[in-house]
Amino acid sequence: MRTTSKILLGLLIVLIAIQFIKPTRNINPQTQQGSIINYMSVPENVQGILKKACYDCHSNNTKYPWYANIQPVAWYLAHHVNEGKEKLNFDEFASYKAKKQDHKLEEVVETVEKGEMPVSSYTFIHKEAKLSEQEKTLLIGWAKKARASLSVAALNH
Ligand code: HEC
Repeated sequence: MRTTSKILLGLLIVLIAIQFIKPTRNINPQTQQGSIINYMSVPENVQGILKKACYDCHSNNTKYPWYANIQPVAWYLAHHVNEGKEKLNFDEFASYKAKKQDHKLEEVVETVEKGEMPVSSYTFIHKEAKLSEQEKTLLIGWAKKARASLSVAALNH
């Protein structure tokens, strides 16, 4: 067998082998009690934006595309989801201390204003998650209002 064929065959075997190493999926429908939606006022249109553009990485439930069944794509996605969720999980928002809630909402304003969120590798594939100027304004306006609604007493705690 020629060396190139050996290398190709080796690669193929590795590719097949890694298909069996699947990361845990972020699907937990029962864990939404702490959702921001149950906790503070989030108008329908803002909920719609959060769901289509943020929830895949910042909630307890990701909607997976078909290619999420393929390794190493799934590992890459899992990494993004875990990192995103760790920083900000809209399904656990109610359990954050008031100070943390305030800070996260401030970050929402900042990251959306700067166009850092939703991440560009995501909007490249999920075109519907790309926010229009109007959607950005709506989301930012809501986050500012939500911050203002957090009680001063709780924040000083
Ligand atoms: C493809 C996954 C993905 C999507 C979709 C996404 N994010 Fe993120 N987000 C991340 C990751 C990963 C991080 C952490 C790394 C970083 O800060 O760049 C993060 C960080 C953040 C942070 C910073 C939190 C902190 O305390 O540092 C905020 C705020 C945020 N995202 C808001 C949003 C909002 C709002 C949306 C929707 C408009 C969104 N994200 C969509 C993956 C995502």
